[in-house]
Amino acid sequence: MTISQEIAKRRTFAIISHPDAGKTTLTEKLLLFGGAIQTAGAVKSNKIKKTATSDFMEIEKQRGISVATSVMTFGYNDLIINILDTPGHKDFAEDTYRTLTAVDSVILVIDCVKGVEAQTERLMEVCRMRDTPVIVFINKLDREGQNPFDLIDELEQKLNINVRPLTWPVNMGADFKGVYSLLEQKLYFFKANKTKVEEDVLEINLQDPVLDQKVGQRDARQLREDVELIEGVYGDFDRQDYLSGKIAPVFFGSASNNFGVRELLEAFCDISPEPIERNTSVRIVRPEEPKFTGFVFKIHANLDPRHRDRIAFLRICSGKFERGKFYHHVRLDKNLRFSNPVSFMADSKNVVEDGFPGDVIGLYDTGTFKIGDTLTEGEDLQYVGIPSFSPEIFKELINLDPMKSKQLEKGVQQLTDEGVAQLFTLQPGNRKVVGTVGELQFDVIQYRLEHEYGAKCRWVTMSTSRACWITAEDPKKLQEFIRLKGNQVGFDKDANPVFFADSDWMLRMNQTNNPDIQFHITSEFKVLA
Ligand code: G4P
Repeated sequence: MTISQEIAKRRTFAIISHPDAGKTTLTEKLLLFGGAIQTAGAVKSNKIKKTATSDFMEIEKQRGISVATSVMTFGYNDLIINILDTPGHKDFAEDTYRTLTAVDSVILVIDCVKGVEAQTERLMEVCRMRDTPVIVFINKLDREGQNPFDLIDELEQKLNINVRPLTWPVNMGADFKGVYSLLEQKLYFFKANKTKVEEDVLEINLQDPVLDQKVGQRDARQLREDVELIEGVYGDFDRQDYLSGKIAPVFFGSASNNFGVRELLEAFCDISPEPIERNTSVRIVRPEEPKFTGFVFKIHANLDPRHRDRIAFLRICSGKFERGKFYHHVRLDKNLRFSNPVSFMADSKNVVEDGFPGDVIGLYDTGTFKIGDTLTEGEDLQYVGIPSFSPEIFKELINLDPMKSKQLEKGVQQLTDEGVAQLFTLQPGNRKVVGTVGELQFDVIQYRLEHEYGAKCRWVTMSTSRACWITAEDPKKLQEFIRLKGNQVGFDKDANPVFFADSDWMLRMNQTNNPDIQFHITSEFKVLA
C-alpha cells in the first residue's frame, strides 16, 4: 500500500467533554462497534471501565479520575481509527490542550440536561485556536433535558460556533422515542438497551402517514415542523465548512444505551478529515511526503506499574516510521534509534514495525524527550503549535530532605519535561516555582516525587495568578525591565523570561506602563489579547 493509501485510511481524533457528560461511555461504545472490546454495556464493570479509560496511574485509581491520556486504536469500515483519550478533570486541562495539538478532529460530548459547561467552553477555545473540525454529540436523551433548539442556541452562543443538526430527537426523557437522521431520512427508534447493539430503524419520508402510526400524531407533527425549521434555517450541510472549523454538525443520542452512536460513527467515518498538513518552524509539511516526521505531545512515566518506564507519545505527521531506523532528534541535534516502538490498545502495548501519518506510537524514553520535540530524517524543522499555556496556580517547592536534593532536582526536571506542570526559577536563591492549571497536580507531583524519586517536598502558596512570557524588540529594554522588576520576573526551563503578576489588573498596568515589552499567554508568544 502507498503512503497516500495508508493516510486515507486513518482518522485521529479526541473526545472532549465536561466531566460526567459521557465521554468514557461513548469511548467504550465506539470501541465496541470497532470490535476492540467485546462486552457491551458493562460500564459499571471495572474491567471495562479500566479498558476504556486507561486507568494506569496509582493516583488515578485512588482518586477515580482519569489522569492519564492514552490512545485507543480500532478498525471500522476499512478505516484505522485512533482515539486519543483526554482526562476530563479540569485540573488536567493542559494535558488535554496538548492532546488536541495531536488530533485532526474532535467529538465534543454535551449532557442534554446540563448543556454547555465551563470546561466545554475552555476546550472549544483551544479547538478554535487551531480551527479543529468539531462534531457535537448531545448525550443522555433518555433524561429530561433542555429543549433541543435551546441547546443548539446555547452551543452557538457560548461556544461561538455555528452548528448544523444532522439528527433530531423525537422527545426526550421518559417519552424519548428516537432520532431522525436528516441525512439518511431514517427514523431510529429508541429502546433502552445497555447490553446489546440492536437497531430498530425505519426509512421514511416524513410526510408518510406511517410516521403518525409509529410515533403518534402529536410527535409526528412536531418532528415535521422541527425538520422543516432546521432545513430552512441551516441550509444544506457543507462538509468543507466542517473541515475548516466553521460549522459543527450535531448528533443526538444516549451513549449508555448505545443509541445514536452508530450513526455518529458512520457520519464520522464519512466526513472527518484524514491526517492533515501541519505547520513547522520552516515550512508546512504534508502527510504524504516520503520522509518521516513527527512530534512528541505527551510524555508518560510509569505507564505500566510493573515496569518503571517512561514513554513519549509521538504523533506521526509525514512519511513512514520504521522500527530500528535512525531518526534525527532536532532539538538535541542527535540521531536516535528506537528498537521497541509500541502501539496502544487500552492497557496493552504491542511492538510495532512501522507507522503512518495519523498514528501515535510510544517511544521508550530515558529522559531525552520534552513535550514538543520533533523527529525527522535529518531535516532541521520543529513542529509548532504545541505551546505551554500560562499556568494559573503557583507554588514554591521546598525540599524537606536536604540529603535527597539531587533526587528532587531530577524528579522535578523530569516531571515538568513530561508536562505535568511548568517549572520556573526565581532569584535570589534559585527558588523553584511550579505552575499548574489545577490544584490536583501539586498532589500528583508530591506523590510522584516521593514514590518514584524518593524525595519529599512541601508547597508554599504564592500570590501570583498569572505568568506571561515577555519579549521586546530591543534586548536592552528587556534587560532593563527584568532588572527593574526584580523578583517579579523568573525564567522558564529554557531560560525565557517570565513576568509574574498577582492579578489581571497588575498585569494590565505593567502592560500599559511598558509599551516596549510584549506579554504572551503561551510560550509560543501569541500576543495577549
Ligand atoms: P465522563 O467520562 O465524561 O466523565 O462520563 P462517563 O462516561 O463516566 O459518564 C458519566 C455518567 O453518565 C455515568 O454514570 C454514565 O453511566 C452516565 N451516562 C453516560 N451516558 C448516558 C446516557 O446516555 N444516559 C444516561 N442516563 N446516563 C449516561 P455514573 O452513575 O457516574 O456511572 P455508572 O455507575 O453508570 O458507571
